[in-house]
Amino acid sequence: MTDIAAELSEACGKAFEAIGLDPALGQVRRSDRPDLADFQCNGAMAAGKQARRNPREIAGELIGHLDNHPSIAEISIAGPGFLNIKVTPELLAKRAEGIRTSDMAGAQPIVETETIVIDFGGPNVAKPMHVGHLRSAVIGDTLKRLCRFLGHEVIGDAHLGDWGLQMGQLIVALSEDQPELPYFDAAIDGPFPDESPVTIDDLARLYPLASGQSKSDEAYRERCQKATAELQAGRAGYRALLKHFIEVSVEALKVDYDRLNVSFDLWKGESDADPLIAGMVDELKERGIAEESDGAWIIPVARETDKGKTEMPPFILLNSRGGVGYHATDLATILDRVKTLAPTLMLYVVDQRQALHFQQVFRASEKAGYFAEDRLEHIGFGTVNGDDGKPFKTRDGGTVRLSDLNRMALEEAEKRISEANLSSDLSEEEVRDIGLKIALAATRFSDLQNTRTTDYKFDLVRFTSFEGKTGPYLLYAAVRIKALLRRAKAEDNAAGEILIESETERALALQMDGFNTALDQAFSKRMPHFLCEHIYNLAQAFSAFYASHPIAAEKDPARRASRLAICEAVLNQLETGLDILGIETPERM
Ligand code: ARG
Repeated sequence: MTDIAAELSEACGKAFEAIGLDPALGQVRRSDRPDLADFQCNGAMAAGKQARRNPREIAGELIGHLDNHPSIAEISIAGPGFLNIKVTPELLAKRAEGIRTSDMAGAQPIVETETIVIDFGGPNVAKPMHVGHLRSAVIGDTLKRLCRFLGHEVIGDAHLGDWGLQMGQLIVALSEDQPELPYFDAAIDGPFPDESPVTIDDLARLYPLASGQSKSDEAYRERCQKATAELQAGRAGYRALLKHFIEVSVEALKVDYDRLNVSFDLWKGESDADPLIAGMVDELKERGIAEESDGAWIIPVARETDKGKTEMPPFILLNSRGGVGYHATDLATILDRVKTLAPTLMLYVVDQRQALHFQQVFRASEKAGYFAEDRLEHIGFGTVNGDDGKPFKTRDGGTVRLSDLNRMALEEAEKRISEANLSSDLSEEEVRDIGLKIALAATRFSDLQNTRTTDYKFDLVRFTSFEGKTGPYLLYAAVRIKALLRRAKAEDNAAGEILIESETERALALQMDGFNTALDQAFSKRMPHFLCEHIYNLAQAFSAFYASHPIAAEKDPARRASRLAICEAVLNQLETGLDILGIETPERM
């Protein structure tokens, strides 16, 4: 069974068919009025319009075919012709049991699987990450987990920014810092030392220097541009340095991403597209897809249908200096992925502010026939703001590094732990582990619960709170269930047949039943907040159940066993859902 709505849709479809109407009208969904019914079917309304008949009359005929259905406890006509359906407690119990024992906690794998490349993270070598990179990492990693959970083939690629001016800036800054290194002698073309001449701290020190001086000193900027061009043209010493810069950066980035439970299958970068670029440029010129314009080579991507908007600027294949930029590396990367990964879909999880860039790239890809535009999606997101409503910055106006964010989140989580007096009977190691898990839950959930495209305010005190719609609240719910299951085990109480007796239990079972729909929406809209919403509502429904249904203290053994089984079902779905969100639950808290 996919879920109850699907089962009822099938039954209603058959009823429509039985009275000579289109079975597709039988779509059933959760009721808008949960106080009156569990599910509703609105098909009679549309059927009435089509057949020019009174919808209530049609609804009445449908009931004649449905009221004996074993899963339906009550069915009635509401308003102008809606069908209100209440399902039997036996059906809810069966469904809850399925959720308890299923590997997918009641969800269904997707039938038509795709091979999906998810381009996310997008950190730049040497440049500190800003909060936009945090969002890309967290949203991208969650989509990766979600797609994989549903059964798709997924390849997550960090697409490192390693081909721009910042590389030339680092080279120039390092040449002043350590001029004696062999990499700067144009006459030497190798071999160069295996060991990196710089650490991540060196890069963190050199980059701001170089980028600052580039802004104020034109001659310096030109040197950086020249170094960048020489690097791109293949100067051996510079290429060797690039390799070191990348290695050192990736190692440092991995530490920060680890904290966020973010991982990649590929750590390719813009520079990996380089070997494809010359051939691509030649081919696009030859086929007449690229045109010369003021010394540059472009692909016009404006369309008739853009009318009314400002005309879309062309895609830049080569700039007037013959240089390769962000457009060209992205197009060549599409080619590379098509050749090496054979994807059917590519998702780019990048700041909304790059929307135009991706539109240009996708149109150029379509024009070149590399990969269809409708299989390329920019998954944009809003900004993370500070108290002032502007993009979140450090107190002195600087970029917030991911490592700083991680540190701040951990500090805040540790404060909550000591406020709640959680640490008293736990070892230091366990407190540290719980702190990391609270910080992780706080950071990821507070980002993911927002509609992806909206902005949100960065507020660690709120994010780490154990109450409200937060990650730590969800951990708390999971930990509470784990504790009561541990106790039941110690007391030799096992789970047994599920009985759905109270309204609260009905509500909880119905909530669990909605898991598949939530995942489906999250996937089809590429919006993780649908899953967050589901998990939060699940925790709330569990809380209501827990508050009014004694478990260990319950005298009736059948009831106690049923409640334990319900707890196991909730925990299975809660942990499965949190795992898709990349959140780990501690054993105790
Ligand atoms: N490095 C870029 C940035 O920091 C993001 C890269 C996104 N991915 C891409 N294929 N363009 O803005």
